[in-house]
Amino acid sequence: MNSMSIKLAGAMALALFCGAGTAAAADLKAGQAAFEKFACASCHGADAKTSVMPTYPILAGQHADYLLHSLRAYQRGASGSTSVNARTNAVMTAMVQQLSDADMRNIAAWLASLPSDLAVRR
Ligand code: HEC
Repeated sequence: MNSMSIKLAGAMALALFCGAGTAAAADLKAGQAAFEKFACASCHGADAKTSVMPTYPILAGQHADYLLHSLRAYQRGASGSTSVNARTNAVMTAMVQQLSDADMRNIAAWLASLPSDLAVRR
């Protein structure tokens, strides 16, 4: 390997490393704290899979990107969007208005990390 290709390999390794860092940027502890702070557990259950009503969705073990997409979709719906990427629901529309983007990312990552039979076996 000449010095040029070594530098290139180094730059690529750095880029990969930084990319992984971004993906892992969500803070699981902060996600759990936000889930508790915003009283999400009062409907979805403290374990996010024993909800107070059988019709409420199980969140534990769901894919983080799906959960994040859902929360953002409720926010779009709350702002009046009629896009196909907007969701409206009497309860969740109200709930998501208090959440920052970081809250949503952290909550989604924490929920996805929980043991569950729902989607991802852990
Ligand atoms: C008063 C009850 C209640 C509270 C409190 C509540 N939720 Fe929900 N949540 C629901 C219901 C009901 C649905 C299903 C709504 C629908 O059909 O779109 C839902 C749906 C969701 C979904 C979509 C799941 C899916 O499979 O598409 C997510 C994600 C979610 N809630 C997260 C949260 C978070 C995070 C909080 C706290 C900030 C929260 N919920 C607070 C009742 C609640």
